[in-house]
Amino acid sequence: MIMPSAESLSSRHLIGIEGLSPAEIGLLLDLSDRYVDFNRSANKKGDALRGRTIINVFFENSTRTRTSFELAGKRLGADVINISPEVSSVRKGETLLDTALTLDAMHADLLVVRHPESGAVGLISQKVRCSVVNGGDGAHEHPTQALLDALAIRRRKGKLSGLIVAICGDILHSRVARSNMILLRTMGAEVRLVAPRTLLPAEVERYGVTVHSNLSEGLKDADIVMMLRLQQERMRGSFVPSTTEYFRFFGLDSQKLAMAKPDALIMHPGPMNRGVEIDSDVADDINRSLIQEQVEMGVAVRMACLDLLTRDLTGNEGPAE
Ligand code: NCD
Repeated sequence: MIMPSAESLSSRHLIGIEGLSPAEIGLLLDLSDRYVDFNRSANKKGDALRGRTIINVFFENSTRTRTSFELAGKRLGADVINISPEVSSVRKGETLLDTALTLDAMHADLLVVRHPESGAVGLISQKVRCSVVNGGDGAHEHPTQALLDALAIRRRKGKLSGLIVAICGDILHSRVARSNMILLRTMGAEVRLVAPRTLLPAEVERYGVTVHSNLSEGLKDADIVMMLRLQQERMRGSFVPSTTEYFRFFGLDSQKLAMAKPDALIMHPGPMNRGVEIDSDVADDINRSLIQEQVEMGVAVRMACLDLLTRDLTGNEGPAE
């Protein structure tokens, strides 16, 4: 087997963290670091993607992910288009694959796709010539979210390996949790999942994580406390008695946070439901909350992904002959 070199990615698609090597994750994070500096400079316009066309196809709501992919593409000089299913031919009964093939035929270089069904984005990647990036598929994966979370952690703590990361809340329906646990375990962090039993997937321990159903116990000595939203839109039936009850046992407030290390950092992928999974006091704690920094990292990580996935490894620079 050929080991992926740390200078390129082994696939032209990014469907999940699963399958990425530590060297590939390291490459993505190192390049993202450079784009963080670039984004903080006054002139935020590069040309690594000049001439490229990126299409965002989001079949689910999004603020952070869609906007940051659009900004990332534009800051690298690409043409970026956004498609919403409400105003596309999806409304006329066109299938997901036909929509993707149509965009591919227009010589899009890269599609960023978000879809409510797990596996839908991977399926598209098998049918099109262009690169495909998963912007979140059902409860499966959200790879750029895990990469931006890792970048935010690595920049503050200087490493990922050996850290204790508690991921808390609706693990069952969360693609963010799945991508994060795979990435963090791959990079040598200790991962604890904290959730009511009804919100934990079966046999989740196979990911090399430990499981806790008591928040204070799961947070003990944690370096990172990552809170997740209750994904009501994916729930079939009732998983928690009430949001008030849920907050009492699984909501993060300063009292429960006191169990974690004194310098523990708080994370949340957004959108937050204040008073359900997290109290405003901790969410807005400027010394300990990484939530706004996560958003900043999101643009840089997406720039690194777009840059690496559209690099022409054959050295062929386009329609020469
Ligand atoms: C997450 C998602 O869509 O999976 N949001 C995001 O991309 N930042 C998490 C969520 O919706 O709760």
